[in-house]
Amino acid sequence: MATIRDVARLAGVSVATVSRVINQKDSVNSETAGQVLKAIEQLHYVPNAVARGLAGKKMGIIVLILPDILNPFFPALARGVEDVAHKKGLTVILGNSDDLGIKESSYIKVLREKYVDGFIFASNTIREEDVESLRNDRIPIVLLDRGLNTASCPVIRSNNREGAKLAVQHLIEQGCQRIAHIYGPQEFITARDRLLGYEEAAGRLKGYSPSLMVSGNFDIESGRNAVEQLIARHPDLDGIFAGNDLMAVGALKALHDRGIRVPEQVKVCGFDGIGLTEITEPELTTVAQPVYEMGGLAARILLDEIESGIRENTLRELDVRLIPRKSTRKEET
Ligand code: RIB
Repeated sequence: MATIRDVARLAGVSVATVSRVINQKDSVNSETAGQVLKAIEQLHYVPNAVARGLAGKKMGIIVLILPDILNPFFPALARGVEDVAHKKGLTVILGNSDDLGIKESSYIKVLREKYVDGFIFASNTIREEDVESLRNDRIPIVLLDRGLNTASCPVIRSNNREGAKLAVQHLIEQGCQRIAHIYGPQEFITARDRLLGYEEAAGRLKGYSPSLMVSGNFDIESGRNAVEQLIARHPDLDGIFAGNDLMAVGALKALHDRGIRVPEQVKVCGFDGIGLTEITEPELTTVAQPVYEMGGLAARILLDEIESGIRENTLRELDVRLIPRKSTRKEET
């Protein structure tokens, strides 16, 4: 790929002259400008941010890195970010990290060289040194949903612990006494906080036992597998709180395949509030996160810092909402 030096050499001018032509500075005479533009066309040269002399200026681009764009939770989060950014005339670059720190570091390395204006990471694998490095270079960053608790940057997520207690309390009110929990990967702070909330609320039950907790991977398959383990351990369990909706959907499928009726025999509650929960059979009770609002708030906080340069290192936990549906309905006595 041609560089600004190749263009300068072909046009017989200095790199600085090429940069002035690119930035349409009127300090270049028309003949010289013509030579430079001809060389740019011949070499198919595409100026980068540095050539445009934009280092330190605002590019009007922010970056959103999500861990798993196949999980419907994250596109809803992205929608909240993009709607706010678009209203402000900014473009959003979306990346998928697969929860791999190496991919996140690569995104940071490549895109900071393009002088993007800021980053939003829904990540639990971003490294503190990456966060520090961006902050030291005064590149705004906001952590969304997952993410470090000790990060030197704003963090926005739901109140996961209280949300888990809401789910368990609802199952208790619906008559459940042996309530299981399918918990998400414990490297995610969101999953850890939900497990804590479950233990706080279910630990008091006479039917409680640590063997009522089984790990999952925030996906449908692990929800199905978890139910197989739970039924083997506790054939008499009467309630399941799944740490996210995809695992709850998997649990519904596994219970159905075993001929176990929901909600008559086992009641099931999920977490996230993705649209899929409205069309399962039975429709799934869930604890809905304010996903769209979380994305929008993260974007607003980032844009405020981009515009003002003022840093804030606050953790905001937004309230969640129980949506009761048929999967936990109490039988009419
Ligand atoms: O469904 C994906 C899960 O990962 C959500 O609960 C969200 O909070 C994220 O942590």
